Amino acid sequence: MSSTPAAQEFSSFGALREQALTCTACPLAATRTQVVFGVGDEHASLMFVGEGPGADEDRLGEPFVGRAGKLLTSLIEGIGMTRADVYIANVVKCRPPGNRDPQPVEIDTCRPFLEAQLDFIAPRVVVTLGNFATKLLLDTKTGITKLRGEVQLYRDGAVVIPVLHPSAVLRNGGAALAQARADFVVIRRTLNAS
Ligand code: URA
Repeated sequence: MSSTPAAQEFSSFGALREQALTCTACPLAATRTQVVFGVGDEHASLMFVGEGPGADEDRLGEPFVGRAGKLLTSLIEGIGMTRADVYIANVVKCRPPGNRDPQPVEIDTCRPFLEAQLDFIAPRVVVTLGNFATKLLLDTKTGITKLRGEVQLYRDGAVVIPVLHPSAVLRNGGAALAQARADFVVIRRTLNAS
């Protein structure tokens, strides 16, 4: 996945990470505890993109380590993988205060970091968790409830599979959990076929 030039801005994945960790380019820098860059296998075939760090992630410096993270971890394990097998990142790398939605200026400012992560890691399957990541990567206004579980062509032969955000699954309970499990079966099948 090297057709976009984002990664060319950075000499290595480590340099990208170092630059992100000291970023003060948007207002979220003033209220964060730390930048939550991403975690996992830098050569993963499967990458997850969430929305932005919450309180637990801001405290611990790792994405998806709170309640939603535990659900994501169990869904990953449900398809026979571990967190160490995949890469997990977010649209914005700093916590929006009070867990509010990330603002357009914050998403736009942070976007080069996500684009460069996607370039360096070059996953075959990108799973967007919820509306923010889905709308950003697919450049669509269509909502997650319509797009979830549908394999979308992305770039350089890679695909995006939008799924419900784990926080939404926690809020909405049984039926949403069944949908999430079904969508993870699609992820597994797509990985097996690619
Ligand atoms: N929700 C997200 O979108 N990302 C996290 O890292 C944690 C919760």
